[in-house]
Amino acid sequence: MHSTAILSAFLLVLTTLGNASPSCRLRKYSARQQTFAHPGVLHTHEDLLRMRTNVASKLDPWYSTYQLFAEDSHSLLTYQMEGPLTWFERDHSGAVYGLNQIIQDGRAAINLALQYIITQNEAYAVASRNILDAWSETLKFVNGSDIQLGASLCGVNLVNATEILRWEWNGWAVGNITRFEGMIADIFYPAAGIQGINEYPWSGGWGTTGEKAIVAYGAFLSNSTMYQEGLCLYSNPSCGAACGNLGFMIENTGQYVESGRDQGHTQLSLGNMAEISQVALSQGDPSIYELLGERLRVGYEYTSEYQATNNTLPYNTTWVCCGCEDEGWTYVSSLDRTQIRPVREIVYGYYSGVKGVEMPYTKDVLSEGPETINPVNADNDNAEWGTLRFRRTSSL
Ligand SMILES: *[C@@H]1O[C@H](CO)[C@@H](O)[C@H](O)[C@H]1NC(C)=O
Ligand SMILES: *[C@@H]1O[C@H](CO)[C@@H](O)[C@H](O)[C@H]1NC(C)=O
Ligand SMILES: *[C@@H]1O[C@H](CO)[C@@H](O)[C@H](O)[C@H]1NC(C)=O
Ligand SMILES: *[C@@H]1O[C@H](CO)[C@@H](O)[C@H](O)[C@H]1NC(C)=O
Ligand SMILES: *[C@@H]1O[C@H](CO)[C@@H](O)[C@H](O)[C@H]1NC(C)=O
Ligand SMILES: *[C@@H]1O[C@H](CO)[C@@H](O)[C@H](O)[C@H]1NC(C)=O
Repeated sequence: MHSTAILSAFLLVLTTLGNASPSCRLRKYSARQQTFAHPGVLHTHEDLLRMRTNVASKLDPWYSTYQLFAEDSHSLLTYQMEGPLTWFERDHSGAVYGLNQIIQDGRAAINLALQYIITQNEAYAVASRNILDAWSETLKFVNGSDIQLGASLCGVNLVNATEILRWEWNGWAVGNITRFEGMIADIFYPAAGIQGINEYPWSGGWGTTGEKAIVAYGAFLSNSTMYQEGLCLYSNPSCGAACGNLGFMIENTGQYVESGRDQGHTQLSLGNMAEISQVALSQGDPSIYELLGERLRVGYEYTSEYQATNNTLPYNTTWVCCGCEDEGWTYVSSLDRTQIRPVREIVYGYYSGVKGVEMPYTKDVLSEGPETINPVNADNDNAEWGTLRFRRTSSL
């Protein structure tokens, strides 16, 4: 097993304030020389050790959550791959060729990689690697009007699995890892910036989805330019994500730009922002979690209060996503109010577990039971099994 490894990327990219192109993707981001820590996407080596040690010690909530996790068909050596395919799509028309196959295989790839970490049984590493190798050998393109969502939400899951295996196991051929990197850089990364039918660059949940993918791909590839691009889009409206940066997404009351739409989309995007922040934390940088006076924490508390109580919350009718002005949202939407997505342990692990800052409503939701899989549909839009993966302390 590799010990935590450090790679350096000595990229010095000059900032150009060029205004020639209307596309934010052509903007150059200022990338300082940067050292990347690995594994360093959603989990550091220490995070992985915490999971293994706590499960081995039969400590809860990790152990009991692991029992549920280990029964999921995606965590079993008998998992039957659904791909690979040469392409997949996500389209406004509802065309989804290949989408479910890559979603299920991505879910299995990460679960099997985590199984290897926890059990140290190499058969799991091999099973995960085989899925990742199969897709990187076969996939040629992604398409459809909603390609930004399709490619970003699926690509990050594969990357998570690869990031763990390549740094924690020595059974993967270098040439095949390089081929996987090429797939991310050449197929998934460009797609993360294609907004398709969404006329507003980086708007709402599309924006945070593309941003989280770019941040994860940059860290995975040790590419400072890419990593800084993603963080810039999220944290600074002048980087091209005027409709999709934190300060626009979450009002200082905690209202999210789609709070008037439904709580499912709201939680998806909160989860995206948490994942962006967590990758930065894995890279030793807590400043993304800290942005705008812990605005992300405030956003989680607003939505969690709405979901955990019957309280009526303040609602600003003009704090809505770009293009949503005519939707007529006048109060927090009760659609999906009881649908709890697995997006809270990750932020609770930082604000409460690391910093000791209280999140009473988020805690109320978490106290209802362990985070497992996405309850609504077949998608794993955010990092599932949060209680096993992100919890830092036994009691909330
Ligand atoms: C690389 O991946 C291919 C599948 O695409 C697999 O057949 C081959 O065995 C892998 N190579 C090594 C050395 O593991
Ligand atoms: C994606 O590409 C395939 C292969 O060319 C094509 O059959 C399919 O219609 C395309 N889907 C969309 C939504 O454009
Ligand atoms: C890093 O990613 C950018 C795309 O943002 C690409 O142009 C550049 O070639 C990559 N750098 C390396 C060293 O691969
Ligand atoms: C909210 O109201 C419903 C219906 O009156 C009730 O069943 C539920 O217990 C209430 N929840 C809380 C947290 O007070
Ligand atoms: C409501 O949101 C708008 C931005 O759309 C902002 O300018 C305004 O200050 C907000 N109102 C309150 C009361 O916070
Ligand atoms: C993998 O990591 C990315 C980037 O942080 C995150 O968005 C995604 O939800 C994660 N997926 C899984 C299955 O852990």
